[in-house]
Amino acid sequence: MIRVAILGAGRIGHVHAANVARHKDATLVTIADPFISNAQALAATWGGTAIADPLEAINHPDIDAVVIGTPTHTHVELMLAAAKAGKAVLCEKPVDLDIHKALAADKALGEQRKKVMLGFNRRFDPGFAEIKQRIQRGDIGDLHQVIITSRDPGLAPMGYLETSGGIFRDMVIHDFDLARWILGEEPTEVFAVGSRLFEPELEALGDYDTVMVQMRTASGKQCQINCSRQAVYGYDQRLEVFGSAGMLLNDNLRETTVRHYSAQETETRGPLLNFFMQRYTDAYRLEMEAFISAIKEGVALPTTVFDGCQALRLADAAQLSADTHAVVKLNEGAKDA
Ligand SMILES: NC(=O)c1ccc[n+]([C@@H]2O[C@H](COP(=O)([O-])OP(=O)(O)OC[C@H]3O[C@@H](n4cnc5c(N)ncnc54)[C@H](O)[C@@H]3O)[C@@H](O)[C@H]2O)c1
Repeated sequence: MIRVAILGAGRIGHVHAANVARHKDATLVTIADPFISNAQALAATWGGTAIADPLEAINHPDIDAVVIGTPTHTHVELMLAAAKAGKAVLCEKPVDLDIHKALAADKALGEQRKKVMLGFNRRFDPGFAEIKQRIQRGDIGDLHQVIITSRDPGLAPMGYLETSGGIFRDMVIHDFDLARWILGEEPTEVFAVGSRLFEPELEALGDYDTVMVQMRTASGKQCQINCSRQAVYGYDQRLEVFGSAGMLLNDNLRETTVRHYSAQETETRGPLLNFFMQRYTDAYRLEMEAFISAIKEGVALPTTVFDGCQALRLADAAQLSADTHAVVKLNEGAKDA
């Protein structure tokens, strides 16, 4: 059994605790959160002991793996402490909001970086993973374009947005990782536009509520990401890939497949799955399964801190492009920086 500690008993901590507790090869040993009542509530539901100090959990002799679901500014410190203690780590995205701090963390990990996985759960979504496999199988010939639509159902509270790092680093970061993974190449040109179409208060934060990003790789493959903080019809998550021999696209998930026909309208369908915890339930479960099985079998973890740094570089480039209305060029070699 892989013995796991969860750090952070908030929204994502709940998701990971449930998936560890349900995993046949894992045991949830402890949950650490300085707000001990959060840890206690999670432990009461999913098992394990509740403690306040994350370092005590990391250095616990009966722990093999640490899952970091704490606020972003704590990721680097906890990740380095866990790696130093020789533990395997699944750390939530983003590595940090500061690319220099993220790159320094990757460097400081040294050989231990092989034991740290970044929480880019969308790679484990069955629909996106099937699209990736079918591109590799040649179903659409040579890949030419990737179009990602990623819209949240509603704006997060202003208190959250103030420390989020902005829409590109907080939200589109998932789509930057998905884009790199699906493209199979690093984007080298980024052009982004950002608007405040429904929340003027974001101006004070230098942030946007609605953005579009266009990217191109060195070989000429193109990617467009459409992103909004507010889609009144729900959590809109779609992927379309187009190539020399065809196209693949996936649709949103719904609570039901039933469609209603009446005298007023036809093809009426139920709402989309509400938000990330519902839409990506399978992805989070499969992400945890990939983490646990990689530790057990001693094989490479499927995502890395390097992936986290690359997604952050794209987020920084998009923010700069949106702010300056200019194309930002990225050196492919910068990935080794
Ligand atoms: N992969 C995804 O889809 C996804 C989704 C949501 C959040 N996240 C990421 O997960 C992280 C947490 O987000 P959230 O929405 O769960 O936040 P949250 O505020 O709901 O929960 C964070 C928890 O961490 C606790 N905490 C604070 N400092 C701590 C420390 N030093 N050690 C242990 N616990 C500590 C807080 O008390 C709180 O209970 C963020 O980095 C966020 O970007 C990822």
